Amino acid sequence: MKTDQPFTRRQFLGGALAGASGLALDQAHPTPAFANPRQWKFAVVGTSYRARGSHLQLLRDYFPEVEVVALCDITPENLQEGLKVYGKPAAAYSDYHKMLAEHPELDAVVVVTPNFLHAPVTIAALEAGKHVLTEKPIATHVADATKMIETAKEHQRILAVGFEMRYYPLFHGMSDLLGQGAIGDLELVFAALFAATGTPGVGNIPTPRPARRQIGGF
Ligand SMILES: NC(=O)c1ccc[n+]([C@@H]2O[C@H](COP(=O)([O-])OP(=O)(O)OC[C@H]3O[C@@H](n4cnc5c(N)ncnc54)[C@H](O)[C@@H]3O)[C@@H](O)[C@H]2O)c1
Repeated sequence: MKTDQPFTRRQFLGGALAGASGLALDQAHPTPAFANPRQWKFAVVGTSYRARGSHLQLLRDYFPEVEVVALCDITPENLQEGLKVYGKPAAAYSDYHKMLAEHPELDAVVVVTPNFLHAPVTIAALEAGKHVLTEKPIATHVADATKMIETAKEHQRILAVGFEMRYYPLFHGMSDLLGQGAIGDLELVFAALFAATGTPGVGNIPTPRPARRQIGGF
């Protein structure tokens, strides 16, 4: 099976953005930005490896009309590095509550903090009326995940979780083939992912990753 284009976070964000315009979750929302999510104003909370190696570069390079209005991180050097990677003017915060309070114009927040903070940051953003893309896993407790989903419904905002592999055309193609009975009954699955580091076309961050990050796989 041929997949010309490996799925990238760009496509994920693009899909989420495109989907958002069609959902019209909040018909009463009067801003033109809601009508065209590619012009949304974003904030990114947590500006370490994942944000700098992926989200910030994608928002910067693939969505020229999107504006990252603010970055937030409690670690000053990570905040500075995040600002450097984004490379365009953005407000800097160490407190996401303050950031949300001072930027009512924000449409969406990308949560790239440690896992245990996905829930509180997401819920605060949703309660402030923002759409949220949180990194995976959604939360560290089922009750937190449930509250996040309920809060999104209550405030009629989109909550997306960064399970990008679920959007890979390769895996969808495999699933389609299995569904069509292409190999008969499935009896054994052996899976391995062979990939270069980094997203093609999106540079890796120059900072060497700690060794623990290079161990494992699946
Ligand atoms: N989808 C994927 O393939 C993928 C890949 C890597 C990481 N991730 C996820 O991305 C997230 C971040 O990963 P990472 O490797 O960058 O983690 P990291 O621990 O290196 O970075 C987290 C950042 O959040 C900041 N932070 C902590 N508390 C904060 C707070 N209260 N307010 C603002 N910022 C705060 C830290 O200072 C740090 O800069 C994790 O949830 C991880 O599971 C997903």
